[in-house]
Amino acid sequence: MHRLMSVSLAFAMMASLGCIRPEGAKKTLSGQELYAACASCHGETGAGNASIAAPNIAGLPAWYVEAQLAKYRSGVRGYHPEDHEGLRMRPMSRQMMDEAEVKAVSAYVATLQAVKAAPSIQGGDATAGAGQYAVCQACHGDKGQGLEATKGPPLAGQYDWYLVSQLKKFKGGLRGTHPLDTTGAQMRPMATMLADEQAMKNVVAHIATFSR
Ligand code: HEC
Ligand code: HEC
Repeated sequence: MHRLMSVSLAFAMMASLGCIRPEGAKKTLSGQELYAACASCHGETGAGNASIAAPNIAGLPAWYVEAQLAKYRSGVRGYHPEDHEGLRMRPMSRQMMDEAEVKAVSAYVATLQAVKAAPSIQGGDATAGAGQYAVCQACHGDKGQGLEATKGPPLAGQYDWYLVSQLKKFKGGLRGTHPLDTTGAQMRPMATMLADEQAMKNVVAHIATFSR
């Protein structure tokens, strides 16, 4: 309870720091200028911040960042009442005035040097996970590098807690269930195949063996 409260408080503070555009200002901002609003949660380097559940976005490809920002903006992601982190990200996605700004900030995120997040989850069996990952590689690449053709994002280098949280969201229907979420709908049955949390930890332990 205490931890939850302090996380929400930290979020409120971060969100207020994230205000970049004075009311009424019309000027189109550059990707770097726009990113100032993101840095309060995702960090200057894009490496994220575990204490406020902000994922590592450094170097994610522009096509994926753009697609996710578009989903948040239109309420295709981050709409479920139990998707607390997604609900926090959603208003941030609306800081961009138009699609041109969405493209600009996405291109900027893609230029940030990719970094590998340190592992935090105990008890994952990477060997068992390797077997499960055989199914994932068709869309995410054999080294978790991501594949634009299948719209599967890079998984390598991402925080393990974030990967598990997203697998749970897909499986529980908090992500990937909106009728317009066609790529989320492709991912959802894959998360459903993972029988339990242990299976998720195993596959994520295998992903942690990839370099970014
Ligand atoms: C108030 C904190 C906060 C701010 C500010 C913020 N984000 Fe986020 N962002 C989050 C959280 C938390 C998540 C994870 C949502 C989840 O777990 O489902 C997230 C998720 C994302 C994702 C999805 C990553 C993935 O791998 O699918 C992208 C992309 C993203 N943010 C980009 C941005 C950009 C660009 C900005 C600035 C315009 C921004 N964020 C500002 C908190 C924030
Ligand atoms: C049929 C293609 C496909 C397969 C197979 C697949 N995925 Fe995905 N996955 C996707 C797509 C597409 C997305 C992005 C969904 C979106 O646009 O929101 C995704 C998203 C994810 C995410 C969220 C990443 C983020 O940054 O938020 C995780 C975690 C993930 N997949 C893990 C897995 C694992 C583990 C497996 C194997 C058990 C797997 N995927 C198999 C297509 C696939």
